[in-house]
Parts: sequence; structure tokens; C-alpha cells
Amino acid sequence: MKHQHQKNDVASHRVVNPLLDQKVRETAVKLREMGSQDPLKFWAEMSRDIEWSKNWEKVFDGSNTPFYRWFLGGQLNASYNCIDRHLAGWRRNKAAIIFEDERGETRVLTYQDLYREVNRLASGLKKLGVKRGEVVTIYMPMIPESVIAMLACARIGAPHSVVFGGFSADALRDRIQDASSRFLITADGGMRRGKSVPLKQNVDIALGSEKSPVEKVIVARNTGDAVPMQQGRDLWFDDVSNSGELYCEPERMDAEDPLFILYSSGTTGKPKGILHTTGGYMIGVHTTYKYTFDHREEDIYWCTADIGWITGHSYIVYAPLSNGATVVLYEGSPDYPSQDRFWSIIEKYRVSVFYTAPTAIRLFIKWGDQWPASHDLSSLRLLGSVGEPINPEVWLWYYKHIGGEKCPVMDTWWQTETGMFLITPLPGDESFVPGAATCPFPGVDVAVLNEQGEPAETGEQGYLVVRKPWPAMFRTLYKDEERYLNTYWSQYKGIYFTGDGAKQDEEGAIWVIGRIDDVINVSGHRIGTAEIESVLVEHEAVAEAAVIGKKHEIKGQAIAAFVTLKEGHNGSEELDAALKKLVAGRIGALARPEEILFSAELPKTRSGKIIRRLLRDIAEGKIIGDTTTLMDPQVVSSIKEKYGSMES
Ligand code: WTA
Repeated sequence: MKHQHQKNDVASHRVVNPLLDQKVRETAVKLREMGSQDPLKFWAEMSRDIEWSKNWEKVFDGSNTPFYRWFLGGQLNASYNCIDRHLAGWRRNKAAIIFEDERGETRVLTYQDLYREVNRLASGLKKLGVKRGEVVTIYMPMIPESVIAMLACARIGAPHSVVFGGFSADALRDRIQDASSRFLITADGGMRRGKSVPLKQNVDIALGSEKSPVEKVIVARNTGDAVPMQQGRDLWFDDVSNSGELYCEPERMDAEDPLFILYSSGTTGKPKGILHTTGGYMIGVHTTYKYTFDHREEDIYWCTADIGWITGHSYIVYAPLSNGATVVLYEGSPDYPSQDRFWSIIEKYRVSVFYTAPTAIRLFIKWGDQWPASHDLSSLRLLGSVGEPINPEVWLWYYKHIGGEKCPVMDTWWQTETGMFLITPLPGDESFVPGAATCPFPGVDVAVLNEQGEPAETGEQGYLVVRKPWPAMFRTLYKDEERYLNTYWSQYKGIYFTGDGAKQDEEGAIWVIGRIDDVINVSGHRIGTAEIESVLVEHEAVAEAAVIGKKHEIKGQAIAAFVTLKEGHNGSEELDAALKKLVAGRIGALARPEEILFSAELPKTRSGKIIRRLLRDIAEGKIIGDTTTLMDPQVVSSIKEKYGSMES
């Protein structure tokens, strides 16, 4: 890694908290103090916010590093904590979910409604034979049935594996196979820009071609499109719910029993099944939501992430519902029917806390200030950002044009693996640093280390690590302990390696730079370069492929592929289109390369390793430094020449 010494003139960049409430300030100070004095005591204290059916005996067990365990001996149920416990008082009639679809149709589910639907489905699933401990795959759009399905699984102790609805049939098949799911919950389709996304059709393809472990497919009606139902295998969601009882006893889960797995891209072709357990996860997400978003009973909270990503799991479902919040759920695109759809939703429901991603904000900037300006956004009191580094200019635009210069902006850094926010400002801070996730959440210990494992100097880029375990951390990779150890715990002993680069400024604020491994962050979605490469080389014409992330104005990074062809094949527009289609078909549209360059050779070290850094520099038009260590230094100039002619 290049060590960059860059001075940050931070003080002048700070934005004073426009809404500093004395009580919130005191809470932030107190939490940080508690968290730094004794993290375990801090988390033990926080665990009181969750209802346990059996109290835990020991807060933490670190004897088998890095297979950590939290809240030992405790028992609880996540769905009980998200629903049942809100029913005792007036909250039972509070809106849990306000749903709007792209066509503008709406549905509201109170906590009582959610309770009934989760119980009915949970009971129906049990009757179908779903067992405690078995993984149920969910492949659904952003509709209340997705939340109901997740909570129903949690209720009966069946870990869910949600596969993002934008993934292709092939990607779905791989994940189903890996989890050996006998049950799959899906919908007829999803809505996107006035068209339907054929989810059930993808399911049929995924299950059709090979022997599949799936025995039952449960289909929710959403688009109303006609879908073929295979007799004996396919069932309507409503029929399963109708077969269930109004009450289904929540399973008492051990704190360390799995709550879900969520597949995420890594640096090999095979996605990683990130496994989260119940007790620590619930406490981690509950606490971070409560304090980072300064949760208030009367809030209307909207997180625009998809349920298929960790943000949807932690901060659409488990954290807000466990806090008894009202959650807006929107199925559709931000520019349908026009580019002010989000602002009209905020105005319509008087949303007070809004959580979105930098890639979306950059789009809004591009579309123009007139869209948010034409709506009354005065209900907003707090904003959040997640998924990528937010450039200071983008932060400031968000702060001004969406928040009206009166909402604190929480830039939350975290990962599928971390489960919960690890680095974020708090609404009780006196000022914020646009562009920096700022500082660890109370009780969390992060650091920026250099190659030798020492703390990096101020302004020096290093590796972002977490030095102490935290409750919502993933526990392992599903069926792959070795990869868990190698990927995250082999760089520094006993320290969690995040895969991100970061630096700390003079005031200690942490600036996350982005991934330093072979993972691309496209519009806040992680995609492994190896995953795309392995699809490209499946094509008969392709000999070798190297995929890189290239800076992109809106998406943060865009995918560029450098491809060498086998003897007798030539690069052509048709081949370009065929390769892009192949990737989209195998993984999903989100992985489709933006550009493909056919090259006679790829730059390699003498030991034969492709140097992606050089390809990235070429793609971004940077000056190329020393290439003498290359096997064939000529390769770079020839690719550069070719790339230049392609760009112009
Ligand atoms: C990036 C999403 C800078 C980072 C919750 C991380 C961020 C990866 C931020 C995890 C942020 C997420 N500032 N970078 N506030 N939030 N990232 O697993 O590179 O989809 O490693 O989890 O997103 O992506 P994942």
C-alpha cells in the first residue's frame, strides 16, 4: 500500500451541530465514557434493553479466539423482541410498517397486524415441516411480506438467508445449494420503473436445471402477474398463512443460536455466508439504532436500502422494530414516475429520520436541486448515510438541500460482517466532519494500523481494524471456518481485519478510504472481482480476465474488465455485448461490466500475478509509475494506448 502523508485542514471543515439538544449531548458523553472505561460492562448494561426469556450468565467468552461468544446462557427470540413486547401498551396500535409501492398504493401494518401475520406464517411454516435450525431462503422484493417472512423464520428458530432480488437465477441457485434450503419464500415479481421483475420465473430457472434441495416454494402475490405454479412444490403465501394458527409460540433461542446467514462477495469466486447469531446481534443493532438515530417514539423512519442487504436486515427490520419504531418501506425506484419520488414520500408521510447511500445522493445532485426544493421536507430532523465514503461536497449538499441545514448527518461505517454500526458520529456531538465517519461507537475499539501493525501516523493511510470483539459481530462463515480465519484474522493476531483502508486526521477523526482488497463497491454493493472474472473466463473466447473498480461519478466505482482472448478470437462489439450479458445473467445486473477492453496481454509480476493496480491506473487515466518489476513492461504501454483510443 502507498503511504500517503496528506494534511487535513479539518478544523475549518467542521460543521457545527445545528440541533444540539442538551439531553442528547449528555447521553453521548455518558455513553462514550462508559464504553471506553469498560466495554463489557457497557454492553452488559445495554443488554437490558432486550427482553430475555432466560437471563444470560456471562457477558463474553473470548477463550477460543476468534470464535467469540456473547451473553452466554441467555435465551431470547428476535421476533418476540421486535413485536410481542410492544403489544402490552398503546404501541400495539402504532404503525410498524408504512408501505408504499411504485404505483402509489399503500398499506399500513400496526404492531398488532404484524404480530398476527408473523404468527400465522410462522405457524404455517411449521406445519409445512420447517424445523428449528434449518436455513430458509428468502428471495423477495421490498414488500411487507419480506419482513413478515424474516420474522416468521426468526420466530421458529429457522435462520433465514435472504438473497437480494436483483440477483440472477444462477446466483440464487448457488446460495440455495450452499445453504441446502428445503424451503424458499419468494413473490410472483417485484416492481421497478413500471415494469415487473420476474422473481418466480428466476426461481423456476434456479430450481429447474439441476437437482435442487428445495421441496417447497412459497409465493407471495405482489405484481399479480400470472406465474406457473408447480403442483406439489409451489404454494401461495396466503394459503400457508391461512393454514397457520393465530399464535405460534416463539422458540427460545440460545444467545449464540444463528439468526441468519447473508451471502456477501469476497475475493474468490465463491460468496461467503456471513453468519450472525441472536443475542449479541440484537443488542448491537438495537443500541446503535437507538443512540445514533436518537430514536424518538413519534419518529417516522425511512431507510432506502433493500431488504436483501445487511442494511435492510439490521436497520429496516431488527433494529427499528425492536425499538418500536415506525418504518417506511418503499418498493420502487427513486425516479419513478419522476425524479422527486423520494421527496414526495418524505413529504407525504412526514418522515423524520432518513437513511440512504452516497450513490443515491450523487444521483440526486445530478438530477438537480429543484426536485427536493419543490417539496416540504421540514419534517426531517436527522439524516444518515451508509455504504461508501461520502465525499465532503456530497455530505454538504445532503446537509443543505435535504436537511435544510438543520439536521445532523450520521455517516455510519460498518459491514455485513460487523452487523451494526462501528464508526459513526452521535447526534449529541458538538460538530461533524463532512466526509469522515468520525469515531467509533461507544464500546467499540477501532484503529488504523500500518503494515507492521503499529498505529499509523496522523494523516497516513493504513488498514482499518477492530481491536476488540463487539456483540453484533458475525461468528463465522457458514461451513467455512478456514476462510473465516484466513480472511479476517490472519493479518494481525487477535485483531479483526476489515479490508478497508483509512486514515485519521489531527483531531482523531477516522476517514474511511474504501476497500483495499479485490472487492469493488458499486453503488454501495460489494462485488468481488474474482466472481466476475470466473464468469468471464467461462466464455469460450476468453483466455484470461482481470476486473477492476474504476472511479465513477455516481456509483463510486464502476466495473471495468480487461480480457485476453484465445487464439482465433477477436474482440468485437458482439463479443463485448455477449460478455456483459453473460455476467448479468450469472450474477445479476449489478455486476454487469461498464466497459470491457480486449487486450493481447495483461500486466503481471514475474511470478505471474496480475497487477490490478496498474489496470486501475490506466482506466482512471493516471500516470503510471515504475513498471520495471513487470514480466513484460511493454504490456502497460500497449494497453494504455488501446484504452486511450477506446475512451476517445
Ligand atoms: C463500505 C454495508 C465509507 C466499506 C453496511 C465497507 C463505507 C463496505 C461506509 C461494507 C461508510 C460502508 N463510509 N465506507 N460510511 N459504509 N462502507 O458489507 O468499504 O455491504 O467495508 O455493508 O462498504 O459493505 P457491506
